[in-house]
Amino acid sequence: AVPDASPAELATAAAAAIARLTGVESHDIGLTLGSGWGKAADVIGETVAVVDAAEVPGFHASGVPGHSGTLRSIRLANGKHVLVIGARTHFYEGRGVRATVHGVRTAAAAGAKIMVLTNGAGGVDPAFGAGEAVLISDHLNLTAASPIEGANFVDLTDLYASRLRDIARAEEPALQEGVYVQLPGPHYETPAEVRYLRTIGGQIVGMSTALEAIAARQAGMEILGLSLITNPAAGLGEEPLSHAEVIEAGREAEPRLAALLTRIVGKL
Ligand code: 6GU
Repeated sequence: AVPDASPAELATAAAAAIARLTGVESHDIGLTLGSGWGKAADVIGETVAVVDAAEVPGFHASGVPGHSGTLRSIRLANGKHVLVIGARTHFYEGRGVRATVHGVRTAAAAGAKIMVLTNGAGGVDPAFGAGEAVLISDHLNLTAASPIEGANFVDLTDLYASRLRDIARAEEPALQEGVYVQLPGPHYETPAEVRYLRTIGGQIVGMSTALEAIAARQAGMEILGLSLITNPAAGLGEEPLSHAEVIEAGREAEPRLAALLTRIVGKL
């Protein structure tokens, strides 16, 4: 791809490379696996191909410990094709919003009509305990950024599709729902910021997903969002926050989350 390709051109080039490298012409579902969710890639279906992200236009090797640097094509038992975006670029990596949402745009260009976004997040609402999976019902985008450029006024009503949430809850009736807050990171919040987030209606806090959801909606996809609560947010728990502990909490939950996601994705 030429260096000054538009986001749409870059996503089209990436989708073409994925089709060539995986042999799968079109994918049905895009899936981004955040902290704690990675094992799902090994169990949701049969892996058709794993592609090094460095071979696909617009992707970068992940600079975040605990995140893989691959794209993977998986065939589900029902015959649907899932494109796993294992090379998520986070907003805090400083590559800009375009790079942050390139995976979502690539999934859309590869044919996906549904985007499943998962993450590890802090619990702001004390009702959500560490180790729990929570359905994202809506978000507060506090990054002060948008993936949309120009005068494109995109509606974000029912952004996290109630149709898909109903499907998820039919599989797992105990799943609670919460409002996700995306902050830029990479620092965690202060306790005062966490109290503020709670006051304005936030229940889960993290450093991904909201910008990606907006880009997915712009691309016409339906979105399902799931957070693993890895820890209580600052001021709510006993322990200081660390990325190592977020990763460790994720590792403990991984087999359970992989099984949950397998059941849900199989019904989408
Ligand atoms: Cl407490 N905050 C943010 N921003 N991201 C997180 C987190 C908290 N816990 C896991 N990821």
